Amino acid sequence: MTDGLIPLQRITDARGSLVVLETGKAVPFPVKRTYFIYGTKDAAPRGFHAHKTLDQVFVCVQGSCDVLLDDGKVKKTVRLDKPDAAIHVGPMVWHEMHDFSADCIFLALASDRYDENDYIRKYEDFTALAAGK
Ligand code: TYD
Repeated sequence: MTDGLIPLQRITDARGSLVVLETGKAVPFPVKRTYFIYGTKDAAPRGFHAHKTLDQVFVCVQGSCDVLLDDGKVKKTVRLDKPDAAIHVGPMVWHEMHDFSADCIFLALASDRYDENDYIRKYEDFTALAAGK
């Protein structure tokens, strides 16, 4: 399960702020894919899946949301509400994103390319696999 929030290097000067997500530092894997979620409607929750092998780092570069994490034994909710704090979500962690603010821009860095076969989308499948791992 995640160790909690990862502080990101933020360089602020008179012009504004620059935040760094670098492989081998805040990001513990080589990044092969990046995607972002924005324009969330009515704070509609997302996620509701786990991955068999994928590692991801999430950060709300704008706005906020709550990320529920569940490794089959322990559930915890981590609030992402600043652009210089991220979470690492490894394989076999069920995750749900809730309570998106209307302005939220949710950025994900992923260790591999998109592969639907890497998803576990049924919670009962996840708990069965997590119990057997
Ligand atoms: P999904 O991972 O299910 O996102 P969420 O759980 O937040 O709803 O992806 C939503 C849709 O987008 C689904 O049809 C798969 C597609 N998708 C891609 O084609 N490529 C990607 O890199 C991602 C993350 C999703």
